Amino acid sequence: MRHLTSLVDTSTAEIERIFAISAELKQKLQQGIREPVLPGRVLALLFEKPSLRTRSSFEAGIVHLGGSSLYLGVDTGWQKRESNADFAKVLSQYVDVIVARTFRHETVLELAQHSTCPVINGLSDFSHPCQALADLFTMREHLGDLKGKTVAYLGDGNNVARSLALCCGKLGVRFALAAPRGYQFDGPFLQTLTNTVSKLDLLITEDPVQAVEKADVIYTDVWTSMGQEAESAARKEIFASFQVNEKLMSRAPSGALFMHCLPAHRGEEVTDGVLDSPISVVIPQAGNRMHVQKGLLVWLLSEAK
Ligand code: CP
Ligand code: NVA
Repeated sequence: MRHLTSLVDTSTAEIERIFAISAELKQKLQQGIREPVLPGRVLALLFEKPSLRTRSSFEAGIVHLGGSSLYLGVDTGWQKRESNADFAKVLSQYVDVIVARTFRHETVLELAQHSTCPVINGLSDFSHPCQALADLFTMREHLGDLKGKTVAYLGDGNNVARSLALCCGKLGVRFALAAPRGYQFDGPFLQTLTNTVSKLDLLITEDPVQAVEKADVIYTDVWTSMGQEAESAARKEIFASFQVNEKLMSRAPSGALFMHCLPAHRGEEVTDGVLDSPISVVIPQAGNRMHVQKGLLVWLLSEAK
């Protein structure tokens, strides 16, 4: 049984296969073709946190593929009424695939361990693999062959940054993380990254200019992730010099793209001037969440071993 709890166990060939299916489905949709390749399949969305993109792109995507979805929030009593093991054993008898958005990554792992259908991580405190797949797919659409390109990520070395670094590494993309000390990748994750990516090309710095000056893509995410709201004021101070603004972008090569997983906290990690500029691809990036997750669903439910 294959799951997608993170990108650690996903090979380069598997990512390429997901992208190939996604590109074909996207092209067909643009021609008005919605082939029901997953007829009658049911997707459960089990969410502990808010979501616009992940929830609605999976819901729309499974309908395009001939299936349907059910949204389960915390009113199911999830995490309170019964164990994750019992929850997963029961739910996976009713549905064909589960997307889970959780606070603790261990919750996704527990669901996957006990589920009899594939479990996809729709964001945990450790990783956001669906986001990274859509990000690299988007980069390829805009930049072509990505080998040797550089992605600079500024801000918190969080779930989004970890998945992006893994996906970049697996596709031969150089990754630069500019983050304050204490908010960079921790030792266990660096070890995982090194073990997983054979030819890792990684720069970790506290200097935003050093990260962006050779970058093809400048990427940022919120400084305060869901669940960290109590740290928001402190984080605004700690991360202030990592804001992606016009001055910083003037140090990046011309032609560099700006990306953000969204939702953005405008005026914090990114200015309106950058987010709304012609180099920003955040809207097609969000659009690709649906196309790539459709590819992921088809791959997981029809091909993955
Ligand atoms: N980027 C992303 O996952 O957005 P949502 O939180 O809206 O799903
Ligand atoms: N790092 C953010 C991403 C939101 C899509 C969070 O976890 O809240």
